Amino acid sequence: MQKASIIALALFLVGAGFPGSATEAEEFSQNDWLLRAENDNARFRLLQQQMRGFDQPMWEVGERFERLHAALQRENYELAVYHWDKIKTTIENGVAKRPARGESARRLFLGDSWTKIRAAFASGDKREAWDGFDSARTACQSCHQSEKLEFMNNQVIFDLARPHRD
Ligand code: HEC
Repeated sequence: MQKASIIALALFLVGAGFPGSATEAEEFSQNDWLLRAENDNARFRLLQQQMRGFDQPMWEVGERFERLHAALQRENYELAVYHWDKIKTTIENGVAKRPARGESARRLFLGDSWTKIRAAFASGDKREAWDGFDSARTACQSCHQSEKLEFMNNQVIFDLARPHRD
């Protein structure tokens, strides 16, 4: 096909409103909060807002920390390891959104201490696992302290402790 006729065909298709082309006017409902946005930048901004920052992952981490404690009480060490793994993923995902939190997270939580605590839960030894829980609490609280959020450490989940007799 000649170049000129390709251009003519393209113009014809655009003019005719080639199915699926951008010329087709779409009706969006008010619920199409992303589709209705002006452009992709505006869409990503809306998504960023909805995905929140560090608070929502921390909410999940707090929830899982409670379940981790309950798992240890039941001596379900596989479940304790499961929650500990998810806590790591959640904090890493939080750092992806708020990189300024990364330094404290890596230094006080995600490195060696996370690995050692995981091994303590995986050992299946009751005393070792509870020692792991104590270290976990300390690691959480030291990051809050390092991030100048001491008030975070004064809440019910941090009263969770090992049973008196273990
Ligand atoms: C980066 C270091 C860091 C680590 C590690 C960390 N936190 Fe946090 N945590 C934060 C920050 C920062 C906030 C406040 C988030 C905000 O203001 O957006 C927070 C807030 C929280 C909150 C309040 C969330 C809410 O909005 O209700 C809880 C609960 C919490 N953390 C529990 C934990 C537990 C449990 C651990 C350990 C398993 C932990 N955190 C480990 C930095 C950390």
